[in-house]
Amino acid sequence: MKLVSLIAFVLIIRACYAILGFDVYQSISEVTFQCLAKNGYSFFIGRMVIMTGDIDNAGIQNIKNARSAGFTNVDGYISPCTSGCASPSDQVQAAINATKNAGTTVGTIWLDVETFEWTYITATNIQFITDMVNTIQNNGYKVGIYTTDTDWNIVFGAWTGASSFPLWWLNYDNQTNFNNFSPFGGWDAPTIKQYNGGINGPCGVPNLNLNWRP
Ligand SMILES: *[C@@H]1O[C@H](CO)[C@@H](O)[C@H](O)[C@H]1NC(C)=O
Ligand SMILES: *[C@@H]1O[C@H](CO)[C@@H](O)[C@H](O)[C@H]1NC(C)=O
Repeated sequence: MKLVSLIAFVLIIRACYAILGFDVYQSISEVTFQCLAKNGYSFFIGRMVIMTGDIDNAGIQNIKNARSAGFTNVDGYISPCTSGCASPSDQVQAAINATKNAGTTVGTIWLDVETFEWTYITATNIQFITDMVNTIQNNGYKVGIYTTDTDWNIVFGAWTGASSFPLWWLNYDNQTNFNNFSPFGGWDAPTIKQYNGGINGPCGVPNLNLNWRP
């Protein structure tokens, strides 16, 4: 009985510390951010660069709106354009410039590693992401990686050179835990899990991607 109580207590504590967040593609107003905060979402990751290599101005406005609404845990992510666009360094620098010019900021800048965005040549991909990482760090921001085991292994093979950065792991099993995680890329555990996507969320927000961190 005591053990059962203890387990229940631990589960309750864990539930209290489990933190929910979200990311979206569309514009979210400050009022809607406030509504989502009331519904239990406390961190936001806004898109800074879209796959064409262009700045996502709506995404940067979202970052600003999230902060105005009282979110303190606000990050950004970059979906890189790896062929025929500005250099990796310039893509990152343009995103950071645009964020600063908008009068706002992010904590970590997450780099999106999904197969369709990258080349088929591992060495090219390693050079590209290394340039992005260096530019992020030279600007004083933290780096993170958004990926799955499948995407990572196709794009970077056995390379473990990014494993010192936090992993935002994508796995749509709808579970707010890391139970289904198997190590890859040198990561023993994720930092954030995107556990479902394209959800009709609260506050009338469609296409909500749901994230969880312990
Ligand atoms: C970023 O801003 C700096 C300072 O204004 C400028 O020198 C640089 O060219 C900008 N870089 C990009 C890629 O927009
Ligand atoms: C995900 O979880 C939510 C909340 O428990 C539930 O309403 C929804 O049906 C689940 N979706 C899937 C795809 O499992």
